[in-house]
Amino acid sequence: MDDPSKSSKTRRIILFPLPFQGHINPMIQLANILHSKGFTISIIHTHFNSPDPSKYPHLTFHFIPVGLSEDQASIHDILRALHLLNTECIGPSRECLRKLLATHDDIQCMITDAMMYCSKDVVEDLGIHRIVLRTSSVCSFLAFATLPLLQEKGYFSDHHNNLESRRDDPVPELPPLRVKDIPSIQRPNPNDALKIIRNMVQGTKTASGLILNTFQELEEPNLDYLCQHFRMPTFLIGPFHKFFSAASSSLLTQDRSAISWLDTQKPDSVLYVSFGSLAAMDEDHVTEVAWGLANSMQPFLWVVRPGLVQGSEWLESLPNEFLEITSKRGYIVKWAPQQEVLSHPAVGGFWTHSGWNSVLESICEGVPMICSSFFSDQTVNSRYINDVWKLGIKLECGLKREEIESAIRKILMLDREGQEIRERALCLKVKIQVSLKTDGFSSQSLNALSDLISSFQSSCV
Ligand code: UDX
Repeated sequence: MDDPSKSSKTRRIILFPLPFQGHINPMIQLANILHSKGFTISIIHTHFNSPDPSKYPHLTFHFIPVGLSEDQASIHDILRALHLLNTECIGPSRECLRKLLATHDDIQCMITDAMMYCSKDVVEDLGIHRIVLRTSSVCSFLAFATLPLLQEKGYFSDHHNNLESRRDDPVPELPPLRVKDIPSIQRPNPNDALKIIRNMVQGTKTASGLILNTFQELEEPNLDYLCQHFRMPTFLIGPFHKFFSAASSSLLTQDRSAISWLDTQKPDSVLYVSFGSLAAMDEDHVTEVAWGLANSMQPFLWVVRPGLVQGSEWLESLPNEFLEITSKRGYIVKWAPQQEVLSHPAVGGFWTHSGWNSVLESICEGVPMICSSFFSDQTVNSRYINDVWKLGIKLECGLKREEIESAIRKILMLDREGQEIRERALCLKVKIQVSLKTDGFSSQSLNALSDLISSFQSSCV
C-alpha cells in the first residue's frame, strides 16, 4: 500500500482493468500515458492474471482477492469468465475503493475497462466520476451497441439464425458487415453473450467519459454514429503502444530467439502468424493452418501458444511431415516479442486473429494483414480491414489451406492487390505519426482528457 496522500498537489486516478492480456496491455499503457501527464496512478487488480508490480515502481497496485480456477478461467468459456469476474469483483473492489477514498483526498476519477461493467455498481453512492476505456475499435463497439436492434429484428432467432444460407448476406443496419460478421451470432446460444454486451454498453452510457484506443484518421466514417450512441465526452487517443510499448505487461515470457531468427531472413519476406492470447482451434483447423503455410512456400514465424490447439500441450498435433518440410523456412515459438517482430524489416505480412491490439500494432508498422477471426470484436475488425480500410485480406472461408496459401502469396509475393495493400498500409503508418505529434488529433484528444479529469472535484468519503 502507498502512503496516504493528503497533498492537494497530486491528482490521482484509480484504474480498474479487465484481467486478460489484450485488456491489461492497453490499461497499463494508459496508466503510463496518464502518469506522464502528471497524474498519480493506483490500480485495482485481481490476483488472477496480475502483472508484476515490481516492473512499475511509479504505479501503485491494490490487489483484490479474486481468483479464477483454471477451469473457470478456461479460454473455452470466456463468457463464463467475464460473468464470474463481474460478479466476484463487485464486493472486493468496492471495499478497496472505499478504503482508498477514505485515505486519499486527491482522487479525481476511476477509469474502468468497458468489460468490467460491474464498475457501475462499484462506484454507486461513492461520489466518484467513472470514465470507461473501450480497448477495441469504434466500428466493433458500434456493432455491439447495435446488437439489441439486430436482436429485435430477429437476427438471433432460430428462424433467422440459419447461418449456412444467410452467412454472406449484408446487414443493412451495419454496413459493410455480413451476417457471419455479427459478434456472437455463431454461438449456439447467443443470449448469454448478448446479456454481457448489453451490460457493457449500458455501463458505458452512464459513464462521465469514454476513451478508445484508436485514432481519428482510421475511424472517421463512424464517428458521428458513435456520438449518437454515446452522448458523453469521447477521446480517441490511440494507438497507446506508440506512447509506451506492451512488452513489460506481457503475462507470458517473450521468446527473443524469434528476433535472432528474423535477423537471418530477407527484407519483407516473412509472414508473422499469431492468433493472440485467447483464441483456440481444434486439430483439424491447425492442420489446415499448417498445410496452408507449407504450401505457400514462404518463410514464416508462427506463435503456437500452449493452449492454442485444444487437447494439445504444444506441437504434438502438428503433422510431422509439416515440421520436416518447413524446418528450413519456418520458425515456431510459444510467445514472441510481437511489437518488435512487427517492426522487424524481415516481416512482410501478419496473419492475425484480428484482436484489436494486434491490428493496431500491425497498422503502426505498416504491415499488411491476413485476417482470421474467432470471436467478439474480431469478426468486425477483420471485415473493416478487408472492406473499408483495405489493409489486408480476410479469409472468408474460415481456415482452409487453399485460401490460406493464396492469401499468403498475394501478401508476400505482391501481386497487384498485395502491392496496393502494402502502399495503403505504409501511407496510414505516416498518418499515425502525424496524429501523435503535439498538434495531431490523438495528442490534442489526450490533452482534452487530461483537462476533463482535472476539472473533476477530487472525491473522498
Ligand atoms: C482479446 C480479444 O481476443 C480481442 O478480440 C480483443 O480485441 C482484445 O482482447 P487477444 O487475443 O489477447 O485479445 O489479442 P490482442 O488484442 O491482439 O492482444 C494480444 C497482445 O499480446 C498484443 O499486445 C500483442 O503484442 C501481445 N502478444 C501477442 C505478444 O506479446 N506476443 C505474442 O506472441 C502474441
